[in-house]
Amino acid sequence: MEIKTALTYDDVLLVPKKSDVQSRQDVDITANLTKNISLKIPLVSANMDTVTENRMAIAMSLAGGIGIIHRFCDIETQVKEVIKVKRKQNLIIDNPFTIHPDRTLAEVKTKITELNCTSFLVTADGHKLLGIITHRDMLFATNDNVLVSDLMTPKSKLITAAPDVSPEEAKALMKSYKIEKLPLVDAEFNIVGLITATDISRNLNNKQASKDNKGRLLVGAAIGVREGFLERAQALVEAEADVLVVDIAHGHSINELRAIDAIRNKYPNINLIGGNIATAQAARDLISAGVQAVKVGIGPGSICTTRITTGFGVPQLTAIFNIAPVCRQAGIPLLADGGIKQPADLVKALAAGSDTVMIGGQFAGTEETPGPTLNYKGRQYKISRGMASLTASLSRPDAKENFNQITPEGIEARVPYRGPVQNIINQYIGGLRSGMSYGNARNLAELRNNAEFIRITHSGQIESGSHDNEVI
Ligand code: XMP
Repeated sequence: MEIKTALTYDDVLLVPKKSDVQSRQDVDITANLTKNISLKIPLVSANMDTVTENRMAIAMSLAGGIGIIHRFCDIETQVKEVIKVKRKQNLIIDNPFTIHPDRTLAEVKTKITELNCTSFLVTADGHKLLGIITHRDMLFATNDNVLVSDLMTPKSKLITAAPDVSPEEAKALMKSYKIEKLPLVDAEFNIVGLITATDISRNLNNKQASKDNKGRLLVGAAIGVREGFLERAQALVEAEADVLVVDIAHGHSINELRAIDAIRNKYPNINLIGGNIATAQAARDLISAGVQAVKVGIGPGSICTTRITTGFGVPQLTAIFNIAPVCRQAGIPLLADGGIKQPADLVKALAAGSDTVMIGGQFAGTEETPGPTLNYKGRQYKISRGMASLTASLSRPDAKENFNQITPEGIEARVPYRGPVQNIINQYIGGLRSGMSYGNARNLAELRNNAEFIRITHSGQIESGSHDNEVI
């Protein structure tokens, strides 16, 4: 039997090329997450319960990447996390707060405190817009019994817009009429939404963020393949998650193929990523089943022990090398998941053929991860754990096994607190941009096409790090 050699990031280096890239800022690192979703940076935060909930997903999306909300919670909890991201930078508020015209000023004031808002659209039947009441309308009102209908700016004086108004048009209207709220109405004057001045300037000023066509941040959500996965998928689609990731440890399995088929049939247009896989045949099968990106990585993760528990896995660089040609031919992006320890690994993953890269361990310990910061011997830490670790397995809502029956394929770890994730992203993106200038690459396609890998020896690895110094 011929036994092939397989390599990972530390086994190789990229050979420098004559470069006409003048500045690291000149390179374009736009990347495809799926066939239909493009990101400004090729980074995705991992769907692990110690990495991605709404705070991480918001930070990733604001930075130009995306976060995938983990599935290790009930459907309702996961949906709430997705909604928090979608509402974060709402350009259009789909369900603005409303009030009846017969309510009093006192009632308005109570609702303002309760809901932490500053204005209400006025409607008697819950649909037709009659007016708006904002802090300006209440400025000099002293009688708490006065009715909303007497205070509001009535329909006749309202500036409104159609639901498909663009951010630029909305801004122009608000500027010329000096208003802070722009109600959106249909032809019958039914309320369809609301745009606020704060949201619009935040939205237009942030060109880096990953946004949907309503100007809201992009977010992904993971689902499994067992009982209840279709209900979860449906709830996440209704919550307007932008991409679903069918994520199980062994993605090249009948269960996963059936799940993809079921989801595809029910939601033909949803962006779907399938994984995890490590072979070309697995990629072919998932692509035939209908995914729009494949997630690659069996056992490379920082908290993974699948390879030492089961004996199965493929070193990550070889997995990418083997799968990338299949993906390229099918026009389906490759998401390399796991094993990233330093910026060079990101550059190597992209040069080897991945389109985007998922990171867990390197983002664990940042401010935006779920969970508290712990103090140990005067230092601050956060917890990172594999989703097949002992504690994660035991804490599943559906956990049936007890302590002795679980065979973990992951570990739990203490990781130093690292501050905001943006600092880590900056290091990775800085390394990538610099790497692209060594590779004479103005974009990620050129990085791939120009890539010449060499295999290095153990001495080469030692030479590659800092050496013969006492690091301070
Ligand atoms: P990094 O290296 O970025 O890898 O921390 C993150 C990826 O690791 C995978 N993962 C696991 N793999 N057992 C495994 O074998 C586990 O318990 C486990 N938990 C997470 C996952 O693909 C993640 O994105």
